[in-house]
Amino acid sequence: MNKKIKVFASATISNVGCGFDTIGFAIDKPGDIVSLSLRNDGIVKIKKITGDGGVLPYEIEKNTATVGILELLKNYPNKNIGVDVEIIKKMPIASGLGSSAASSVAAVFGMNKLLNNYFSETEVLNFAVKGESIASGDIHADNVAPCLFGGFALIRDYNPIDVIKLPVPQNLYCTVLYSQIVIETKQARKLIKKNLQLKKARKHFGNIGTLVSGLYESDLSKIGRSIEDEISEPARAALIPNFYDIKNAALSAGAYGCSISGSGPSIFAFSDSEITAKKIGSAMKKIVDKNGIKTTLYISKINPQGPKII
Ligand code: HSE
Repeated sequence: MNKKIKVFASATISNVGCGFDTIGFAIDKPGDIVSLSLRNDGIVKIKKITGDGGVLPYEIEKNTATVGILELLKNYPNKNIGVDVEIIKKMPIASGLGSSAASSVAAVFGMNKLLNNYFSETEVLNFAVKGESIASGDIHADNVAPCLFGGFALIRDYNPIDVIKLPVPQNLYCTVLYSQIVIETKQARKLIKKNLQLKKARKHFGNIGTLVSGLYESDLSKIGRSIEDEISEPARAALIPNFYDIKNAALSAGAYGCSISGSGPSIFAFSDSEITAKKIGSAMKKIVDKNGIKTTLYISKINPQGPKII
């Protein structure tokens, strides 16, 4: 049995316009790294966290990475297994990029590898979802599932969790603009209305079907048409200064659809080439620059792979 492992897990874009809590995809970068070193005394300990600006907890019951591991160990027969954990945050926290999901997935995926894949894919998913829920205050798998499986993942149901993996169009590029403002998912979820009018629900059913069809056919125009959001975007747009100006700038620069990534503040836009993806990024950034808010741009293809052992 290997005693040590280091895992990279990538950022993810959830909701994807029409799929609140239902659909997400993984991008190549940024991502988090978690290192694990097995112990034989049943103790789980966070030895070091870097890149978090000192904000993440060392208490194992409060950190997304270790909550997932604790859940896994609860279900593992050998109670002497413990682990030392090091978390290297390589992406902004509370950014809408699935940062807590990445740490949770890297930790649980790595732990399962150290235990010779004792648990199934679905069990690993459930442990990681539990870990992530510490950060968001709720169960949602639209970051964890694509982070773990790579590509696009659709959550058909939560009870029990049922994930459908979707194809990745070869020519699909994603531009992500992260503005340096903090939006806590826990708070942002409180803004979502509990009921959805039938008329709006109907639009969502139509759009999610169109998105899935667009992914299967690598039809970017279909994908773009489906990026409409009646649930998250209207409730959260006000948290992101000039959101609609940024979105319009992305669409004018050639984006096939643009919306809030997860609970924000990151905004994603689809395109069909790296050149257009960069052009879209500059157009979006120009708007935020006027407000003096710092930004980071990520241009990436869709990451089909899931976590990487490094
Ligand atoms: N679907 C979740 C939400 C994603 O919008 O609250 C959070 O990253």
